[in-house]
Amino acid sequence: MTSSDAISNEQDAAKRNLWLHFTRMSAYTDSEVPVIVRGSGAYVYDQHGKRYLDGLAGLFVSQVGHGRTELAEAGARQATELAYFPLWSYAHPKAIELAARLADLAPGNLNRVFFTTSGSEAVESAWKLAKQYFKLTGEPGRYKVLSRAIAYHGTSMGALAITGLPDIKHPFEPLPPGGVRVPNTNFYRAPDFVAGDEAEFGRWAADEIERAILREGPESVAAVFLEPVQNSGGCFPPPPGYFQLVREICDRYGVLLVSDEVICAFGRLGYYFGSQRYEYQPDIITFAKGVTSGYSPLGGMVVSDELMEPFAAGTATFLHGVTFAGHPVSTAVALANLDVFEKEDLLGNVRANEAAFRATLEKLYDLPIVGDVRGAGYFYGIEMVKDKATRETFSDEESERLLRGFLSQALFDAGLVCRTDDRGDPVIQLAPPLICGPEHFDEMELILREVLTEAWTRI
Ligand SMILES: Cc1ncc(COP(=O)(O)O)c(C=O)c1O
Repeated sequence: MTSSDAISNEQDAAKRNLWLHFTRMSAYTDSEVPVIVRGSGAYVYDQHGKRYLDGLAGLFVSQVGHGRTELAEAGARQATELAYFPLWSYAHPKAIELAARLADLAPGNLNRVFFTTSGSEAVESAWKLAKQYFKLTGEPGRYKVLSRAIAYHGTSMGALAITGLPDIKHPFEPLPPGGVRVPNTNFYRAPDFVAGDEAEFGRWAADEIERAILREGPESVAAVFLEPVQNSGGCFPPPPGYFQLVREICDRYGVLLVSDEVICAFGRLGYYFGSQRYEYQPDIITFAKGVTSGYSPLGGMVVSDELMEPFAAGTATFLHGVTFAGHPVSTAVALANLDVFEKEDLLGNVRANEAAFRATLEKLYDLPIVGDVRGAGYFYGIEMVKDKATRETFSDEESERLLRGFLSQALFDAGLVCRTDDRGDPVIQLAPPLICGPEHFDEMELILREVLTEAWTRI
């Protein structure tokens, strides 16, 4: 069989048997399914050998980059020694070691680690823990969860109830009750009365959380779920002082603050945890993705000593678990991943280069389509507009034509893996591996400039 026959057979099977996530499968009826076959450093290669800069770290995952043998070998060693044993009543050494290491890295009194296999499971677990915690501590009416408009917190039913994206919820309603929306921190689209002053905007957005708690009844609210920098909508950093106010509000009403760091932990913002960058103390941190740099799946939550306390004595048990949570191979890989973080000072690399990343992307402001460049660390969104002066956005039809009809494919064809998203206003999202530096930023800018210039002529 020639290599072109093999590719053709693979394409047939991909189209006949594989179901891609969040993907219009019809888009591939007359075109090739992109098949990524290998990776090395900041680059991945498709079935034809073509190279792409991985400007999204896979899906906000590949912190240490691709093709790292030390992580692969750590996984293989562990599989040889003990491939699997559950964390149901038993422990294994790598889960213990990783839990201790994460407790050490996590802020304040977050010392107890509950592993999962994914971010959705981590979010789901945090909500379940909050509900059971309040039942055990004499406040059984607390079950509601506040989260922000357009925020993505996962796809399992509970996590989807917390997610703030109406379009991906509707097909699955009714969802578990208790999800309540509050405004996000998109300063570019701030309401007029707070549009001029970021701190004022932050006070308003935090006050909206307090108003929602009061409206719902504090005795019914269990937790607030917030990302340090909200991904969906295109990277909304917190306004100055926002998280400090949210912490005060949560304390005032006995509500738990959950920092959903599935994207923002493990160096994405230049810190092990995003809450450390913005100096707030959560009650729970949820994590996944970058904890293993994707060399094996793993998620989890780090929980405060106080939240664990009611479960620490007598017959109390957190009645929750999943078979593969804290898998030996994944925890071994996570430890090797953290070793690379230390050895190569990846947090230092992000902190040293993030200003250059921002400055390089901001060069794109000379293009008429670039309305806003926002983000932090190695985590940026570029919002596209039809009119820079008025900030007018695209109609649904234009957005469909521009993003789905042109931009996504054109950026990929030009050699850049990134993400175009119009679940809020239309944005391009960038989150490269943490090993990247100025030469990669320049490459991104060059490709974005070329493709966005072409996009403008097609509006
Ligand atoms: C903030 C946040 N929470 C939760 C999730 C869900 O994670 P997973 O896809 O691993 O279930 C994601 C995924 O992107 C996320 O960004």
